[in-house]
Amino acid sequence: IKKIGVLTSGGDAPGMNAAVRGVVRAALSEGLEVYGVYDGYQGLHQNRIEKLTRSSVSDVINKGGTFLGSARFPEFKDEKVRAQAIENLKIHGIDALVVIGGDGSYMGAKKLTEMGYPCIGLPGTIDNDVAGTDYTIGYLTALNTVIDAIDRLRDTSSSHQRISIVEVMGRHCGDLTLMSAIAGGCEYIITPETGLNKEELLAKIKEGIYKGKKHAIIALTELMTDANELAKYIEDETGRETRATVLGHIQRGGQPTAFDRILASRMGAYAVDLLMEGLGGRCVGVQNEKMVNHDIIDAIENMKRPVRKDLYDLADKLF
Ligand code: F6P
Repeated sequence: IKKIGVLTSGGDAPGMNAAVRGVVRAALSEGLEVYGVYDGYQGLHQNRIEKLTRSSVSDVINKGGTFLGSARFPEFKDEKVRAQAIENLKIHGIDALVVIGGDGSYMGAKKLTEMGYPCIGLPGTIDNDVAGTDYTIGYLTALNTVIDAIDRLRDTSSSHQRISIVEVMGRHCGDLTLMSAIAGGCEYIITPETGLNKEELLAKIKEGIYKGKKHAIIALTELMTDANELAKYIEDETGRETRATVLGHIQRGGQPTAFDRILASRMGAYAVDLLMEGLGGRCVGVQNEKMVNHDIIDAIENMKRPVRKDLYDLADKLF
């Protein structure tokens, strides 16, 4: 193996730049050439590929977003589009590709692997919804962003004795909501793992009011229900002013924390180690503080992320 490619794909996440830097610097120190693919699979299909040097990744470790750019590119599901992408990689003589992204990006990497092109997946998403790793790159930075927002909401909802709903990203995974609820001291939590039972929620809120709670914060995972409608329902049923705040893409931006920079650097360098060992079709993770790798096809088809029942129980106890 002499030349490798790297791309970032799907929703950007803080730490993606550090991961690209990790790949580039580790590969160069092994004597490999590295090529950056712009705007994820879309750029791969359009052959927007350029050689990267040491200085291409200078001054990026501390930056949010991804300097390579990213895109959602559903067209990559089409085998002809993927065949063109492989063709483009071959034109540049690139032997293997490192894909940094979430589950959708892993799917693309899996398909390329099935077509005989070796890929290594690095988990880069704020959702923490990728199997085979305890943490995804960007998740803990986003968690701090969410907590910062919840702290601010606490000030205003307690001043006005209001109920606040805060809608947190995560797609179909409640990890970001769960952890923010614990760290932000939220009163109620609604995630894909808990489900939404409006009557039960209402009963809990009323119990809180009966016990003398002056305000409450409800952490809700996106896509479960309309946060504004839920706020109206709660206000109508309890007589307490209720406001919804949708944090949205604020959660995706900002400087990566030290943890994410280090995780991303480790993962980037580890991906290069795997390629040097001749391994392809793997995805990288960190489990119990150790770098691990799994078969990418197995990770997507069979491995499930564990539901953190212990933390849901803790949240229940502390609310
Ligand atoms: O996967 C990251 C994420 O931010 C999810 O939490 C969210 O559902 C989605 O991306 C939003 O996607 P987009 O930026 O394409 O609207």
